[in-house]
Formats: sequence, structure tokens, C-alpha cells
Amino acid sequence: MIIRLAKNSGFCFGVKRAIHLALTAAEGNNSIVTLGPLIHNPQMVEKLKEKGIEVIESPDEIGKRKAIIRSHGIPLSEKEFLEEAGHILIDATCPYVAKLQQIGRQLSEEGYPVLILGNSEHPEVIALRSYIMGTAYVVSEAKDFANHGGEKIGVISQTTQSIEKLRELVILLPERYKEVRVFNTICNATEIRQESTRMLAQDSDIMIVIGGKNSSNTKMLARISSEYAETHHIEIPEEINQEWLKNHERIGITAGASTPDWLIIEIYNRIIELVGEKNLAKNVEDIPVYKEDNNVN
Ligand code: F3S
Repeated sequence: MIIRLAKNSGFCFGVKRAIHLALTAAEGNNSIVTLGPLIHNPQMVEKLKEKGIEVIESPDEIGKRKAIIRSHGIPLSEKEFLEEAGHILIDATCPYVAKLQQIGRQLSEEGYPVLILGNSEHPEVIALRSYIMGTAYVVSEAKDFANHGGEKIGVISQTTQSIEKLRELVILLPERYKEVRVFNTICNATEIRQESTRMLAQDSDIMIVIGGKNSSNTKMLARISSEYAETHHIEIPEEINQEWLKNHERIGITAGASTPDWLIIEIYNRIIELVGEKNLAKNVEDIPVYKEDNNVN
């Protein structure tokens, strides 16, 4: 039996940065709040709570504490309201998300209606919309944008979308608009995690995808993986059903950009125990990685 981890898995740059900013701000028993969960991983959010980093849902709950703006960003009006109210803000908006907001703003200032590929209810997209001054459309797939046309349109994407979905949408537009401006704003960390997952899934019988059930990028990894192999999206080791692992020779593991290494290790070790193997991992580096030339480290 071979058990392998996707080459690019787990925390991305933006999530590492947000956690570092939060932990630094919480040093010396400072009480810190995040507006909504800092990242979409309930187990990591629980760990942060133990360090004094509490999740609140409304700015009214901040009190005199410092507030962290999470990696997805917050709507502009909310940010301005907090600043005017004198709250101390620590901005952990991922620089790639901030760049996306800036492109959305610039397109609308130049008179382009803006078409966003993404989930309209996701915090990143809700915040992004607030930067667009004129018309904005949000669609989660190409078929949702059937009845529109005109002079010009600008296209951007939520950072965690897949390049295939962006391609399917963009290909429809030249017939309907005289001018189409497209920015590929899918984050590189997202793209390489998706590609590593695809490659591993193509060479696996079963895939375990680790990450928050509320995490867009993890759900996208599960979607991609399920095109090639039996796929189970889990958050914690206890969710693994021993039956899944029977009669399979090649088990693949991948993890979303908001999944911490300690969860990857716990889940790998649980799989090792369930299949009766012995080599437990202490560090994520101990887990065999799927080398994308098809060899195992
Ligand atoms: Fe930022 Fe990309 Fe991560 S947008 S939060 S580096 S997935």
C-alpha cells in the first residue's frame, strides 16, 4: 500500500501571514478579536481561541479590543465605520485579495461593468463587491451568465476559483461584448494546490481531502479530486471510516490552504493505524510526498 501527500498542500502564504499577525498581536495576553473566523478551518480557529483570539460576528462586540481583519478582507463601509469609531485594526487581508479588490475598483472607475466569477455569499466576494463602484455581476459558473451583452465588460475571479471555470466563462464573452478585459486573479497558491491534487488523484484509488467544510478552496480540491478518484472531504481524523480504505492500494491525501500541518499529521497517522502500518509521522516532512514525476520521496 502507498500513502502519499500532494506536493503542494496546507497553509498558503496569506493564511500563514494572517496567523502570524494574529499571534503577534495576541502576545502578552492582549485580547484580540477577529471579525468572523480568521481562516476557514474550525479546528485552527479553536486553537487560536485558546491563545486569546476570539471570533465575533458584529463590530458592536469589539469593545476596547484590537480587531483583526481576516485574510478574505471586509467590506469597505465596515472598515471605514470601524476606523471612524476609533478601533485599532490589524489588517490581515491577504495581499492577493487586496490586489483583486484594487483591480475591481480600477475596472469600475474606468467604466467597465465587472463580472466576478465566485460565490456571491463568500466573505471575499462580499468584500470585493464593495470596492466596485458601478455594476457588478457575480456568477458561480458560466451558464449563470446567459442573458447579458453590451459594449464592454471586465472579468475578475474569486482567488479560489479554478482556471477551467474561468475559461468556460470567458470563452462566452467575445460574441456578446465588443471589448472584454480579463484579469486572472486566481491565486497562485490555489492553482498549484489544485494542480497537485489533480496529479495525485489521477494516480490514486482513494483521496482524503483535509480542510474546513466551510473552506472554498478545500471544497474546490474535493471537486477536482472527485473527477479522478473516490474522494472524501474531512476535517478531523475521527471522520475516517475504515471501510473506505479497504481494497485500495494507493491512498492520496491533500489539504486546503487553510489546513494546519498538525491536522495533516494527525489524519495521516490515523490512516497509518487503520491500515495496520507502523511509520507514524512526527512532522509533516515525515509524510511521503507525491513527486510530480511519479516517484515517492
Ligand atoms: Fe491569499 Fe491565495 Fe491564500 S489569496 S489567503 S495566498 S489562497
